[in-house]
Amino acid sequence: NVTIDRKILSRPASGPTEETVLAVTHYTDFLFSFRLSRPAGFRFRSGEFVMLGLEVDGKPLMRAYSIASPNWDEELEFFSIKVPDGPLTSRLQGVKPGDKVLLGRKPVGTLVLDALKPGKNLYLFSTGTGFAPFASVIRDPETYDKFERVIVTHTCREAAELDYSKWTVGKMMEHEFLGELADGKLYYFESVTREPYFRNGRITTFIENGTLFETLGLPPLDAEGDRAMICGSTAMIRDVRALLVTAGLTEGSNAMPAEFVVEKAFVG
Ligand code: A2P
Repeated sequence: NVTIDRKILSRPASGPTEETVLAVTHYTDFLFSFRLSRPAGFRFRSGEFVMLGLEVDGKPLMRAYSIASPNWDEELEFFSIKVPDGPLTSRLQGVKPGDKVLLGRKPVGTLVLDALKPGKNLYLFSTGTGFAPFASVIRDPETYDKFERVIVTHTCREAAELDYSKWTVGKMMEHEFLGELADGKLYYFESVTREPYFRNGRITTFIENGTLFETLGLPPLDAEGDRAMICGSTAMIRDVRALLVTAGLTEGSNAMPAEFVVEKAFVG
């Protein structure tokens, strides 16, 4: 039957595509970012993640990675940890422009604007590589259409680990169109926990003692106007989530938008 054959032929393949590494930047011994070619027809919502990896011993070795670039970008950007004995990242950290990387076909995730009810202030709480999905969200014009203020927080052990988020925020503020959109709306609140810095401490401390809100000139968290996304380690998510719940916010999902959403930062 000719009709059935055509259907089979036009069915999209499900395996990963092979993409080209376009640029690599190393920040510390344990952190780097890289840019890949974006296949035609690769669609995603800013904040989503996708499977990414390398062929190892003839087989694809894939891990979930947040896409750090916004959905309008012609290229794809990723922010990764380097684990010395990590099966994937020990190899991935060595990629150079021109090398090939495997990319899954189906981005998914909950750190998307669609999973939040309308609100006034959008808080994006991150630690470590948990900043990656927010690098995407803060560079999406839709974020500034939907919210009056966007507050992105990034906490790391050492100051050098903030380089990627600092660079991303700085660069976007210089961008002709995005910079204008975000001007006066985007706040970057960074802190360091294990070496001297102008702001030392965990984000949970700054929420609890009010420093975050005093610094920004904003009222304490409230469920009426505040929305949030959290991305970091299991412990960080647990503790920030508890503070949001105490403030009266409820957790949402793609199927049921609410006041905040959560995703674990990917490691390894
Ligand atoms: P700290 O140095 O006080 O543990 P990690 O590398 O362990 O994921 O941590 C990344 C950053 O997140 C560190 O600055 C760390 O602070 C902070 N952090 C770790 N656990 C929590 C938590 N439960 N709540 C808030 N911040 C946390």
